[in-house]
Amino acid sequence: MLIRFPRGWELPEREATPESLYFSRRGIVRSMGFAGIGGLLGGNALAATEGAALYPAKRNPKYTLDRPLTPEVVATGFNNFYEFTLDKQRVRDEVYRFTTDPWTVNVKGLVNNPRVYDFDDLVRRFPLEERLYRFRCVEAWAMAVPWTGFPMSALIREVDPLPSAKYMRMVTAYRPKEMPGIGSQPHYDWPYQEAMTIEEAMNELALFGTGIYGKPLPKQNGAPFRAIIPWKYGLKNIKSIVEIEFTKKRPPTLWNKAAPTEYGWYSNVNPQKPHPRWSQAEEQIIPSGQRRPTLMYNGYEAFVAELYTGKEY
Ligand code: MTE
Repeated sequence: MLIRFPRGWELPEREATPESLYFSRRGIVRSMGFAGIGGLLGGNALAATEGAALYPAKRNPKYTLDRPLTPEVVATGFNNFYEFTLDKQRVRDEVYRFTTDPWTVNVKGLVNNPRVYDFDDLVRRFPLEERLYRFRCVEAWAMAVPWTGFPMSALIREVDPLPSAKYMRMVTAYRPKEMPGIGSQPHYDWPYQEAMTIEEAMNELALFGTGIYGKPLPKQNGAPFRAIIPWKYGLKNIKSIVEIEFTKKRPPTLWNKAAPTEYGWYSNVNPQKPHPRWSQAEEQIIPSGQRRPTLMYNGYEAFVAELYTGKEY
């Protein structure tokens, strides 16, 4: 039986809200309110200030773009984070209940050194760098983003997977009281889960992200710890990770389980492989609306093609 779930990216999208709208009086007053309360009362604010000393991290010049960077106000104001809402422009207004400090990441499964990282230690343990990457959503919109993070390979080496481990599964926090979208969309198989092969995760492009635009990640972009896998569709870039597990068996993923013919397990960007209801041959740059041909592996073929040689995904 085909069960049809509502998916935000199937709805006609208005273009990203122009920057000027974000500076409306209401928006400014609201954001001052949050900063004020946090600044006076919250331990969060102190941690954020301490963490902020790590930013901006040094940019790695190896990774260059073929397009201008997306304005910060757009990349942090137009988000997919279904645990909060399907409305991309409301995510940043819905995250205020979400607490991201303290935060731990439990790394377990088929590894020699399982461990629970406290995020404040984790972010200091692995040297941070900034990289400019293209970002392509399965809905066909695209951005160009300055991420801060560290290679997934650094953490993987430290936990040291056993030879029997083949896959890395990542899980988002599950907090129905803080995440109103979980209750309003009970048909999804929460918590949000993603996975990749260990070979993919060891690729030099794959990052664990902790920041964006030279600052710690805001909640709507997946604070404090997310995946950044630029040759795959955005849905693989799981946010607010609390658990990483190394497995022998291929783990299910939220989108692949919900609609396997629409969202492949690998979900590599591929202009020749249309979504059943729309073409992937072109992408639309946000916020200009400019259309460009989609590049194989989102333009990262030289880095990742060998992972898939002779395989049909
Ligand atoms: N991670 C979680 N936990 N929940 C989500 O709904 N959406 C995915 C991905 N990671 C999602 C998620 C999708 S579809 C996209 S396009 C990107 O996050 C969006 O990332 P951004 O908001 O930082 O642009």
